[in-house]
Amino acid sequence: MLVTQNHMKKTDVVLGLQWGDEGKGKVVDCLAADYPVVARFQGGPNAGHSISIRQQMHVLHTVPSGIFRAGVMNVIGNGVVVDPVILSEEIAAIEAAGVEVAGRLVISTRAHLILPTHRLLDAASEAAKGAAKIGSTLKGIGPAYMDKTGRNGLRFGDLLTDQFLQKYQYLKAKHQGLLAQYPGFTYDMDEYEQRWMEAVQGLKRFRITDTEFLVNDYLDKDIPILAEGAQGSLLDIDFGSYPFVTSSNTMAAGVCTGLGIAPARIGRVYGIFKAYCTRVGSGPFPTELSDGTGERLRTVGHEFGATTGRSRRCGWLDLVALRYAVMMSGVTDLIMMKSDVLDGFDTVKVATSYLVDGRPVSTYPYDGGVGAVPVYTEFQGWKQDLTGIRDYDSLPSRFKDYVAFIEGETGCRIRMISVGPDRDAIIVR
Ligand code: GDP
Ligand code: IMO
Ligand code: MG
Repeated sequence: MLVTQNHMKKTDVVLGLQWGDEGKGKVVDCLAADYPVVARFQGGPNAGHSISIRQQMHVLHTVPSGIFRAGVMNVIGNGVVVDPVILSEEIAAIEAAGVEVAGRLVISTRAHLILPTHRLLDAASEAAKGAAKIGSTLKGIGPAYMDKTGRNGLRFGDLLTDQFLQKYQYLKAKHQGLLAQYPGFTYDMDEYEQRWMEAVQGLKRFRITDTEFLVNDYLDKDIPILAEGAQGSLLDIDFGSYPFVTSSNTMAAGVCTGLGIAPARIGRVYGIFKAYCTRVGSGPFPTELSDGTGERLRTVGHEFGATTGRSRRCGWLDLVALRYAVMMSGVTDLIMMKSDVLDGFDTVKVATSYLVDGRPVSTYPYDGGVGAVPVYTEFQGWKQDLTGIRDYDSLPSRFKDYVAFIEGETGCRIRMISVGPDRDAIIVR
């Protein structure tokens, strides 16, 4: 029995190692060719995962990024919070692209619903914070997870019971009481609420089940699963740059609680990072470049949010933060994204430590590096177009030096290098 267990297929994990938008959607879509099952385990429609297939861009918010691979089953796990309106619109867009969804999407009975009033509470809370706002995507994520841990939430399983409307009205009334505490916050939720009610009914055509049994059955049958993370490690509710974080565990540990998979059944952990850094929303970002170089990264990398369209803050790669993310999730393989964005730069810098109040610091601080001044190592740029390259040996030596340096600093091998948005623009070593 023990021997059999050791040889059993496992759940491999794709995680963002920075502040989100590392390119998880693209990588999951690529890897899904080898995984019959892809499962989201946390977050909600604050995520925007872009997948470019033959120059056509698809953006997913809730549906796992395995949906564009024929035959792959896609699971929305218990750790996810779902806005039925957004999910329904997303499914409609995927179906309009000629992709079958109905038989290939399963939703956990334990996944929590984002109510229209959760979105309003998110907006009211952010407005009240003024300059201290988190920079939330305003999708209702924080309030929905608050109701989950506060034991008030509404779950997909409730949809299938007679008490659903009663529970909904009770929670809505509670939220309206809370909204009244924000002076000057006015709202009109009738239209969204109506769409929401239609959407929840429409979602009943999908399989809603106790997905913890489903995923463990797959593993028992030797069918491997790919778990898809949302957001990034530095937005983790426990270990990120609190309070400028999201409301879920974005690191590898979240896979266990967000899908119902035991730690021993986790296999490889693919850590995704950009060759530089970006961040949307507020919070510390030690290597941020508020100058022309940052602007150039934003322009060349098209750094505008897939969910909110906001412009992303840009800066050099931060190895203090990356080492932390690798350690916290036990990353086994690194995947470097958007390498091509640096093609034209004369010099490329990476932060290897910080100075905080004049003292050297090489570990990620509990406050996410407020006031930290990065200490950089500088590289000569490779000044060559990487977008057409498909094998590692053909890469310029100065670029390989950059790769080797990051591997040395993180103690982890870079297994894949992405050189363009499209599905096949990737080098596997
Ligand atoms: P995710 O949230 O981690 O899935 O990432 P997003 O989809 O929000 O943002 C990543 C963006 O970078 C998308 O627009 C992708 O199409 C794009 N992208 C992914 N990989 C590459 C790459 O290697 N090079 C370039 N230039 N763009 C990429
Ligand atoms: P993907 O999966 C980038 C950020 C928001 C804000 C903070 C809290 O596409 O990488 P929330 O809406 O969760 O209350 O916002 O987290 N944020 C993201 N930033 N990519 C994401 O997802 C994000 N999801 C949330 O900008 O700073
Ligand atoms: Mg994104």
